[in-house]
Amino acid sequence: MSRRNKIYEGKAKILYEGPEPGTIIQYFKDDATAFNNQKKGTLSGKGVVNNHISEYIFAALGNIGIPTHFVRRMSMREQLVKAVEIIPVEVIVRNVAAGGLSKRLGIEEGTPLPRPLVEFCFKSDELGDPLIAEEHVLTFGWASEDELDDITHYALRVNDFMSGLFAGIGIRLIDFKLEFGRLYEGEEVMTVLADEISPDGCRLWDMKTGEKLDKDRFRRDLGGEMEAYMEVARRLGILPSAD
Ligand code: C5P
Repeated sequence: MSRRNKIYEGKAKILYEGPEPGTIIQYFKDDATAFNNQKKGTLSGKGVVNNHISEYIFAALGNIGIPTHFVRRMSMREQLVKAVEIIPVEVIVRNVAAGGLSKRLGIEEGTPLPRPLVEFCFKSDELGDPLIAEEHVLTFGWASEDELDDITHYALRVNDFMSGLFAGIGIRLIDFKLEFGRLYEGEEVMTVLADEISPDGCRLWDMKTGEKLDKDRFRRDLGGEMEAYMEVARRLGILPSAD
C-alpha cells in the first residue's frame, strides 16, 4: 500500500492513484466518524464489509443503466474506480422521516413520507454540510442545470432500485446519501454516481423489528455496529470473511 501515491484521505476512505491514467483506488478504512468529525471511533472490519456492499450495489446499479465511477473490486478493502471531479453537493433521498429531517421539521422519526424527498447539502466539512436549495447550486455554479436534472433523475432511480433490493431482504430503506462526479472522456462530460453506498451513508431498518442496521448504531451509542453491517451483507449474500 505504501508504494501507492496517496491523493486524498477522507473520514472513511483513502484515495490512491490507480494503475492507469484516469483511474483511482478507493481504500475503505475502519474509521467511523459522526457529527462532522466530533465523534470518532474504529469499527474493526467495517472497511471490508463496506467495500463489498458498495461493490454489490454499484455493480447492480451499473447493470440497470445508471452510470457510475465503479470499475471493479481489487481486494478486501480496495476498489478500482474512474477518476471523476466530485460535484460538491451531497444528495440525500428520504422515504421515511428520520435524523436531520425529523429534527429540523419536528416530524416524528418513522413517519412515512408521501413521496420520496430529494435534498441537497453543500459538501463542506468546515460548514458541516449545510442544507441548500437547488437555487444555491445554480447560483454558485456547483452544478449546471443539466447536471442537476441528471442528479435528481439518477437519485430517484437509485432510490427505486435500492428500496426494492432492500425490501427483498426484509430491510426498509429510510434514507441515504449519494455523491456524483463529472467524468471527462475526450470532449464528453458525463454525470456519474461516485463515492460509496454502504450502511455508513444509509438508514436501514429491519422490517419486522425496526432494528437499526446502519451508522445510527454508532451515532446513537446503540452498540453492535459491526453485527448490523454484517447482517446487511449476509442478507445480500455477500458476507466476506474478515481480514
Ligand atoms: O443526518 P441526516 O438525517 O440528514 O442524514 C440523512 C442520510 O444521509 C442518512 O442516511 C445519513 O447516513 C446520510 N448522510 C451521510 N453523510 C452526511 C450526511 C448524511 O452519509 N454527511
